[in-house]
Amino acid sequence: MHHKLNCISPEIRGRWLDIGAGDQPYKKYFAKADEYLTTNTKRHYKIKEIEDIEKQTTYWIEDGKTLPLPDKSLDGVACFQVLSVIDKPQEFFNEISRVLKPGGMLLLTTDFLYPVWSSEDRYRHTAFNLRHLSEASGFDVQAIESFGGFGSAVYKLYMRFMRSFPELWKNKKTSAKAFSLIPYLILLIFLPIASLLGTLIFEIEKNNSRTTDFTFNLLLKAKKRSI
Ligand SMILES: C[S@@+](CC[C@H](N)C(=O)[O-])C[C@H]1O[C@@H](n2cnc3c(N)ncnc32)[C@H](O)[C@@H]1O
Repeated sequence: MHHKLNCISPEIRGRWLDIGAGDQPYKKYFAKADEYLTTNTKRHYKIKEIEDIEKQTTYWIEDGKTLPLPDKSLDGVACFQVLSVIDKPQEFFNEISRVLKPGGMLLLTTDFLYPVWSSEDRYRHTAFNLRHLSEASGFDVQAIESFGGFGSAVYKLYMRFMRSFPELWKNKKTSAKAFSLIPYLILLIFLPIASLLGTLIFEIEKNNSRTTDFTFNLLLKAKKRSI
């Protein structure tokens, strides 16, 4: 993500909205923008987390399909790791198109080969569908990129499984607990070496942006058509 945004950041100018910005992990890439506006969704957070994120959020929205901004008022919209929870993706793209000026940029990333992370997580969009959604809402697609290839996807899934396992294990029936622990412990032995290997794989694959069938994440870069 950092590698990609670093390459794109010189093009980020004018007035931008980051939809579902969370705690703004990528704000530094918007340093050359005149304005960096953000949205978040209250039901996504626990009460304690909301206090922390409150001052970083320009607009609280409960539905990403209605943005509280006038038509053609933005130079760019960013939306990272949110599309999978949007129940009507085409309406979402239409709404983004409405608030963008002609020629305005959409930068969007979304999970692909990645586990479900919320009860609202509904969709995995293929590169074909990202193109379809964009074109149907009046965008010209400039790029659809993978985040590395097969090696990065396997490493990401492995790390995600290791992190999620304790929670999954707590919810298993007593009889299943012992059995499920065995493969986990075997995988745990490989954790230090896997971490090193993963860093190496990311480094090798970071310029691989064409493997859109075998990737954990996809990036879409599109421009709103001028006519
Ligand atoms: C996985 S976080 C991504 C945060 C940040 N963009 C990042 O990449 O680290 C998902 C974000 O989507 C927002 N969100 C959740 N449901 C949403 C919805 N239905 N419409 C719009 N935004 C939503 C939340 O505010 C949350 O910050």
